[in-house]
Amino acid sequence: MPDRLVLPPLPVLRGESVLLRGRCESDIEDRVREPIDPEEEDAYGSSWRRDWDGRRYHSRDEVAARFLATGPEGYTWAVEYEGHCIGSAGLRVNRDQHRAAFSIGLFVAGLRGRGLGRQVTRLILDWAFGDLGAHRVELEVLAANHRAIRCYLACGFRQEGVRREAELYPDGWQDFIEMAVLASEYAPTP
Ligand SMILES: CC(C)(COP(=O)(O)OP(=O)(O)OC[C@H]1O[C@@H](n2cnc3c(N)ncnc32)[C@H](O)[C@@H]1OP(=O)(O)O)[C@@H](O)C(=O)NCCC(=O)NCCS
Repeated sequence: MPDRLVLPPLPVLRGESVLLRGRCESDIEDRVREPIDPEEEDAYGSSWRRDWDGRRYHSRDEVAARFLATGPEGYTWAVEYEGHCIGSAGLRVNRDQHRAAFSIGLFVAGLRGRGLGRQVTRLILDWAFGDLGAHRVELEVLAANHRAIRCYLACGFRQEGVRREAELYPDGWQDFIEMAVLASEYAPTP
């Protein structure tokens, strides 16, 4: 059996126009300034809707607690663009199995669909398969989230399965797609 993965410290990753780095205090103001966008929140699952009264999910305290929380065996990057935090991305690592679960979200709605998500995803995959030495990176995405799926496909992820009617949304039960990319099939950014 291979050794458990050794986790290096969170790296700073630089792309053409985005910078991935650890969180800083001003990220909280950048996040609170942007309104809650149900389209974005729904992409992470439907349970938030049970608690949301239009404000509660978006207080400064709540955002600060969420931003400063650190999970075990995980990496969370703030996505910086033109000097401001516009989203986040992460890897939750299973050291024994050399795999990691990828997550991403750009909370500034006006900056979606302009190639930034692909840039962030590729930066993290390059690092995960390079420095980290992961064997597999996986994720789960709402089947109706066509933009995210196209972003992932463009970065090398392949569809593996469907979790049928996995979560209940206001308009009914929704499927989730399971996707992954393996080190052996990933083409690093030149
Ligand atoms: C998912 C997300 C990170 C992708 O980042 P992005 O910057 O918007 O994505 P990109 O612009 O790099 O790529 C989007 C792809 O979808 C296409 N696209 C853009 N807008 C679209 C739309 N409204 N519907 C379908 N496809 C769309 C683009 O053409 C591109 O595809 P291509 O590479 O084949 O040309 C971002 O949209 C986001 O944060 N969404 C809200 C939260 C979320 O969904 N997180 C993921 C949870 S699994």
